[in-house]
Amino acid sequence: MASGGERGHWGSRLGFILAAAGSAVGLGNIWGFPYMTGRNGGGLFVLIYLIAVALVGLPIMMAELFIGRTAQNSPVGAFRSLSRPGSPWIGVGWVGVFAAFIILSFYSVIAGWSMHYIWLSVTDGFAGRTPDEISNMFSSLAANPELCTLWHGIFMLLTIGIVAGGVKGGLELCAKVLMPSLFGMLLILLVWGMTTEGFAPAFKYITGMHDADLLSRLGADQPRFSGRSWLEALGQAFFSLSLGMGALITYGSYLNRKADIVSTSIIISALDTTVALLAAFIIFPIVFAAGQQPGQGPGLVFATIPIAFSMMPGGALLAPIFFLLLTVAAITSAVSLLEVATSYFIDERGWTRGRATILAGTLIGLLGVPSAVSGGSKMFGQGFANLLNTLTFGAYGKNWFDAFVDLTFNLMLPLGALGIATFVAWRVGGQAREQGFKTGTTLGSLYWTWIGLLRYLVPIGVLAVILQALNLI
Ligand code: PHE
Repeated sequence: MASGGERGHWGSRLGFILAAAGSAVGLGNIWGFPYMTGRNGGGLFVLIYLIAVALVGLPIMMAELFIGRTAQNSPVGAFRSLSRPGSPWIGVGWVGVFAAFIILSFYSVIAGWSMHYIWLSVTDGFAGRTPDEISNMFSSLAANPELCTLWHGIFMLLTIGIVAGGVKGGLELCAKVLMPSLFGMLLILLVWGMTTEGFAPAFKYITGMHDADLLSRLGADQPRFSGRSWLEALGQAFFSLSLGMGALITYGSYLNRKADIVSTSIIISALDTTVALLAAFIIFPIVFAAGQQPGQGPGLVFATIPIAFSMMPGGALLAPIFFLLLTVAAITSAVSLLEVATSYFIDERGWTRGRATILAGTLIGLLGVPSAVSGGSKMFGQGFANLLNTLTFGAYGKNWFDAFVDLTFNLMLPLGALGIATFVAWRVGGQAREQGFKTGTTLGSLYWTWIGLLRYLVPIGVLAVILQALNLI
């Protein structure tokens, strides 16, 4: 293996936990989880999600950190060094690197919308506008390719700047500064949400205590929990925990060999889940207080929330905080995605970090342009067709943006997760695995539970997501 200088390591355990939690906490928590909860009728979806995190997500997270820490190498090299020469397992590493390119390319577009909304809420404030005017602001942003591309570019530059700083001076420093401010912003918004009259119905909605009052607010056409919701919860758990594409293999590879991966996985998953729940406890009170509906889908954060802000006292002040929160969460996740691509060039090609970051970042930035151009069209139902889509994914009935979301969310991440789980459960030598799991932790007695879940429950769950994505079940 070629190497671009000595391998960087985290400066402290707290630094690592914040960076890994930063990767996990992202658009998936604040944008994704609330809208999916709303689209699947609330309470039961939340419960299934929690079970999916604990029984499927958590064992995979431990497996990823185990692979990274053992191999001290990024995904492609890690699978190579832990399996026999010429073995196909290396393919799992490759899927991860490709997924990093694709996910970051559209992730950055959504983060760019969020940056635009910080700007909009500072300059315009949404106050005094009608709900129609506000939701039109989103349609016109999504239909403005230049503006979307500009924000996407700015966001990518920020991400490149941080990753170029290295493990300690870039990733860890950024997490140490941004994660506490993220928690601060969450708290401010939560306290505000709790003081609104929407808090009581939101609480019932999220915890599944649907009473007559809540049902009358929800209306008859409100989406409810369905068969598909199970798999949506599981897919969301992978995405939200940053699993299945090697981000946590890469982060684990900067741990020293004695670091505890068991309790840190539990802490990271708990933080991620807490933030997702808090986001729901912020968003639904606002939605209910402003008399809006929770089941609107992906537009919830960009089209509905600003309407709610415009109607509420203090909204003008809190709207910029909300979109800053969303952007900050996106940055600490985006750097982990770029790190997967960058570490590939450093570890496999022996490039310097500067060169690797700029090249990977530029390629991803370019790959994201079609998503920036086609972003809001189909997803938000405005019929913004363009030549690009017709020529590419149009035949498959999706625009570029939606096709990328689908491909990674429903296929690449579950496939990667299946590969990682199977590899650790069936391929890694039993003794080395047991020792590795027990190193540095007081929770070594969970070993057989971990293996049992990885061997049986995890593959069944993940296969179900894949089969459903292919419309086979
Ligand atoms: N976990 C991040 C989020 O919830 C997204 C992500 C997925 C980041 C995979 C890294 C790897 O937004």
